[in-house]
Amino acid sequence: PLEPIRVVVTGAAGQIAYSLLYQLAKGDVFGPDQPLYLHLLDIPVMMGVLEGVVMELMDCALPLLLGVVPTADPAEGFKDIDAAFLVGAMPRKEGMERKDLLAANVKIFKVQGQALDQHAKKTVKVLVVGNPANTNALICSKYAPSIPRENFSAMTRLDQNRAQAQLAARFGVGIDNVRNVIIWGNHSSTQYPDARFAVVTKDGGESRVADSAADAAWLQDQFISTVQKRGAAVIAARKMSSAMSAAKAACDHMRDWWLGTTGDKYVSMGVISDGSYNTPKDIIFSFPVLVKDKQWTIVQGLELDAFSVQKLQQTGQELNEEKEEALAVCQD
Ligand code: NAI
Repeated sequence: PLEPIRVVVTGAAGQIAYSLLYQLAKGDVFGPDQPLYLHLLDIPVMMGVLEGVVMELMDCALPLLLGVVPTADPAEGFKDIDAAFLVGAMPRKEGMERKDLLAANVKIFKVQGQALDQHAKKTVKVLVVGNPANTNALICSKYAPSIPRENFSAMTRLDQNRAQAQLAARFGVGIDNVRNVIIWGNHSSTQYPDARFAVVTKDGGESRVADSAADAAWLQDQFISTVQKRGAAVIAARKMSSAMSAAKAACDHMRDWWLGTTGDKYVSMGVISDGSYNTPKDIIFSFPVLVKDKQWTIVQGLELDAFSVQKLQQTGQELNEEKEEALAVCQD
C-alpha cells in the first residue's frame, strides 16, 4: 500500500474549497489508492464555518481520507505537506483598486511561503489559485528559498478548460477530442488563449483548428474574448465567482503534475520562466508543459506569428509590472 500523503488546502472554508475537498478526498487527484490527510487552513474568524466542512468531510465516509487537520495556524497547516492548494486570498471588495488587492494578497503569500519553507517537505508541489495567482506564486516561492522554484505553479487550467470547451462546442465534438490549446501568460485579462496548435479529432481524422479558414476570424475575435471574459460572465450570472469549475481545474492541474501528462498532449501551467519564447525571466508565466516523474518541461519549438509575439509581450509586461509592485509591497 502507498504511504499516506499530506495535502493542504488554504481558504478551506471558502467556496472553491467546498468543491475541491471532496474530489481530493475521494481520490480524483492523487489516484484511487493514495491515502491522505487533509490540512484545512483558513483565518480565525472562519473556524466555525470550517468545523461544518470537517463534519461534512467525515460524513462523506471516504476510505482514502485518514484524517483532517483544521487550523488557522500556518505552521500546523503546512507541517510535512506533500501538496499544497493555495486557494485562500482576500476577495476584491467594492471600490477596491487592483493595486490594493495585489498588496493585500501578496502579503498573505509571503507569510505562506515562509511557512512552507519552514514546515513543508522540500518536494512539496504548490499550486496557487488565489489571485493574482501568477504573482502570488512568485512571491510564495521567493520566501521559500529552500524549496526548488520549479515546485511552485499558478493555475491557468481553468482558462485552458474554458478554451477547450469553447472549441469542442464550435466543432461539435466531445471535450476529449480537442487537445493542445494553450494559455500563455498571466491569469488575467491579458492572457493569450492560443488555438493555433489545437488539434480536433472528428469522424476518425485529425485536423488542426488553425487550418480551417472558415474559423480564422472566430478564433482571433470571439474565441479569445469569450475565454478572457468567461470569469466575469459567470460572476454576472451567478453573482459569485467560478467555484465548481475552478475546483475541477485545480484537480486537473495537480493530477497532471502528480501523475504525469500522456503522450504529446500538453497542458498549460503558470511556471517560473527561463526566458522561453522571449518571455521575461523570473516571472511565473503560463506555458504549455509536459510532465514526467513530477517534473514539468516547457514545450519548445512552437512557432509564433506576429500576433502571438505581441500577445506574449503584453502579458509578460503586465507580469513584470505586477512583480515590481509585489516586491515593493513585501519590502514594506
Ligand atoms: P472565497 O472568498 O469563497 O474563499 C476564500 C477563503 O480564503 C475564505 O474562507 C477566506 O477566509 C480565506 N482566506 C483569506 N485569507 C486567508 C489566509 N491568509 N489564509 C488562509 N485562508 C484565507 O473565495 P473563492 O471563491 O474560494 O476564491 C478563492 C480565490 O481563488 C480568489 O482569490 C479568487 O480570485 C481565486 N480564483 C482563481 C481562479 C484561477 O483560475 N486562478 C479561478 C477562480 C477563483
